[in-house]
Amino acid sequence: MIPIVAKYAPFTGKVVQQMSQRSASDFVAARVRDMAPSPTIAVSDKARALKAQGIDVVDLGGGDPDFITPEHIRQAAIDAMNGGETHYVASPGIPPLRKAIAAKLKADNGLEYDWNKEIIVTPGGKASLFQAMLALAEPGVEILVLEPAWVSYVPMIEIAGGTPVTVSLDADDNFRITREKLEQKITSRTRGILLNSPNNPTGRVLTTEEIDTISAIAIEHDLLVYTDEMYEKIVYDGNEHISLATRPGMWERTLTFNGLSKAYAMTGWRLGYVAGPKAFMDEIAKVHSHSVTCATSFAQFGGVAALTGPQEFISEMVTAWDRRRRAVAEGLNRVKGFKCDLVEGAFYHFVDIRGTGLDSMTLADKLLNEAHVAMTPGLAFGEAGEGHIRLSFATSDELLAEAVKRIGDAIGWA
Ligand SMILES: Cc1ncc(COP(=O)(O)O)c(C=O)c1O
Repeated sequence: MIPIVAKYAPFTGKVVQQMSQRSASDFVAARVRDMAPSPTIAVSDKARALKAQGIDVVDLGGGDPDFITPEHIRQAAIDAMNGGETHYVASPGIPPLRKAIAAKLKADNGLEYDWNKEIIVTPGGKASLFQAMLALAEPGVEILVLEPAWVSYVPMIEIAGGTPVTVSLDADDNFRITREKLEQKITSRTRGILLNSPNNPTGRVLTTEEIDTISAIAIEHDLLVYTDEMYEKIVYDGNEHISLATRPGMWERTLTFNGLSKAYAMTGWRLGYVAGPKAFMDEIAKVHSHSVTCATSFAQFGGVAALTGPQEFISEMVTAWDRRRRAVAEGLNRVKGFKCDLVEGAFYHFVDIRGTGLDSMTLADKLLNEAHVAMTPGLAFGEAGEGHIRLSFATSDELLAEAVKRIGDAIGWA
């Protein structure tokens, strides 16, 4: 129960308002009340709590590159701050950053956007997706979410008042997207499909065939496609990232989401963006300006340096992650009941643990409590993620080797 709160009029001291004895939950919006906090953040919090007790936990739960942002990017932000860039800036982002993003989208992705009308810089990629949902989803609007899915998609659509409709992809079919799977869930209320490639958590990179299938369905059913390309730079074994908006007839019906967090090791800077046709961007711009005003001014100057400066750093990081990807898979395939295929992109392994006979929550708890290794249970990514456990290999070779050893010792070696 919350305490009875009285409000008093100034000077006279008369009671002008008294709140009744409601429980706190009576004040909470129904669409938020039953929502679980982000499971990935919950895993990291649990790991941090154990660490605070002096327990040496290897935390593979989060999605943060283990590299510090390159020096020239940090210096650009420091210079901007010392130069007085400490004020509000243009709501959609400073012009040099939007121009750099437009140039990047053209050079890397083959996409043409008007930097001044069709790009919005947001505080992190998460905010760009959330703002788009707030602008475009509402009661009665169904958006297809392909599961296993990044943990925030479903809550974002729900907070916006829309209905997430999950399409379960099949682990035994390598989480492949097919026409049948999508069409089974399309109704007259479907307005959009939310995609993520390279995928968190499965590590899949969409093939040309899948992209063509999705494009054809979007056109046939007149749908908008939201494509989250946050991990585009992190691909292995010659896999290629293709931006869906490049497909014929798709530019007009696609919103492309991306950011600097993963590719430039800039998670704490909170810099993301959304690009799309002006008609949609004008609406998203309203939500953006009323909710955050603008992304942090001096961080945006760092963003310009990131996009326009040397890019070799990215391939150096990807080379390190590739090495760790292989080492972890090789190690985990020796653990009893584990099957770890090499992922195609991003920096997570989505390990098939069905052979252990344990569900993903039980296994994640066991590994945290007994092996002191934090990982995210597959169920956190939807029902289709059950039977799997996600770990990030964006951490040092030594810690990963230690984690594999602890996991094998706790579960048993094959
Ligand atoms: C698939 C996916 N999209 C978007 C984001 C959001 O990134 P940011 O940290 O820029 O908000 C993440 C972060 O983990 C992610 O995994």
